[in-house]
Amino acid sequence: MSAAEENAAILEVADMRVWYGTRGDPVRAVDGVSFSIGAGETLGLVGESGCGKSTLGRGTLGLLPPMASVSGSVRYDGRELVGMDPKELRDMRGPELGLIFQEPMTRLDPLQTIEKHFRETLRTHEPDLDDDEVRRRSLEALAGMGIPPTRFKQYPHEFSGGMRQRIMIALALVLNPKVLIADEPTTALDVIVEAQILGILADLRRNFDTAVLLITHNLGIVAEACDRVAVMYAGEIVEQGDAREVFAEPAHPYTRELLRATISLETTGLNYIDGAPPSLIDPPPACRFHPRCPNAMAVCAELAPEETTGGGGQRVRCWLNGPEERIPEGGREPLEREEIAAAEEA
Ligand SMILES: Nc1ncnc2c1ncn2[C@@H]1O[C@H](COP(=O)(O)OP(=O)(O)O)[C@@H](O)[C@H]1O
Ligand SMILES: [Mg+2]
Repeated sequence: MSAAEENAAILEVADMRVWYGTRGDPVRAVDGVSFSIGAGETLGLVGESGCGKSTLGRGTLGLLPPMASVSGSVRYDGRELVGMDPKELRDMRGPELGLIFQEPMTRLDPLQTIEKHFRETLRTHEPDLDDDEVRRRSLEALAGMGIPPTRFKQYPHEFSGGMRQRIMIALALVLNPKVLIADEPTTALDVIVEAQILGILADLRRNFDTAVLLITHNLGIVAEACDRVAVMYAGEIVEQGDAREVFAEPAHPYTRELLRATISLETTGLNYIDGAPPSLIDPPPACRFHPRCPNAMAVCAELAPEETTGGGGQRVRCWLNGPEERIPEGGREPLEREEIAAAEEA
């Protein structure tokens, strides 16, 4: 990323750690993650289930359970969110920091019409809006999600589950947040609604310069909807950069495996990466991916990789990409794996 782009970042997360559990061995769900998003930019966050994506999304907005401990820095528009007064942070959620979660944290109130939900949401943050304006903005947000104006005065139970999810999304978007964190917003929905949501996100960026963190396990969505991509493995970001460059020239073996699994899913219906994701209580030392890595070298089990720049300008943490002078003598030898060594001895 160029210095100019870096300066324009509206959201900057630096060295964030989120550990669950205070006594005993904590789950290190997010372990030293840094990224930034510029106004009008969409960053896709991908990685296998359990690698810490949702924790990162919630942690960014200060929405973690009390048993989670957070460190590092989250700067939004120059203000530090980590450690901010909870009330101040709550007021920023909605108009400035928007969120769409897989399982909505708030539910629609069964006793209130959809109209009432929108009026309250808008008036809470923009008290001076008149009725016409409330109506116009609400219907526009609903129309974007495929909900016709004829249904504005209906109650939540009159809608299907999928429609309620779309109404929740419209409620998050009606405030035109400056930053939007969308955690697998389309996973439970069909492809037509998925396309609508991706269209809406594109409109938000265009019209309101919204910065979007789009969490998904679908690399196709990233290719279609994201400017940049961050690949997460076992609590760490292992590669991030321009989405096209990263997909054209992935520098980290884990990114290559993810891409391979996606392509084989499309062509053969098989979708797996050998081995299971590691425990986040006691993750593998040095490079966390080394036990599953098809290209692991001796150094990978000994030293944590440093961040380097890949061929597509991306930032990557993998010894294959150097830096050469930090790799100890013999470090480039193929990794001797214990199970292989044990099998040979037998
Ligand atoms: N409230 C919680 N308490 C303890 N561990 C949790 C909690 N939420 C998530 N985890 C653990 O943190 C890790 C990351 O989870 P999560 O952020 O949900 O990953 P992802 O969204 O990538 O699937 C997992 O090991 C998960 O079991
Ligand atoms: Mg998740």
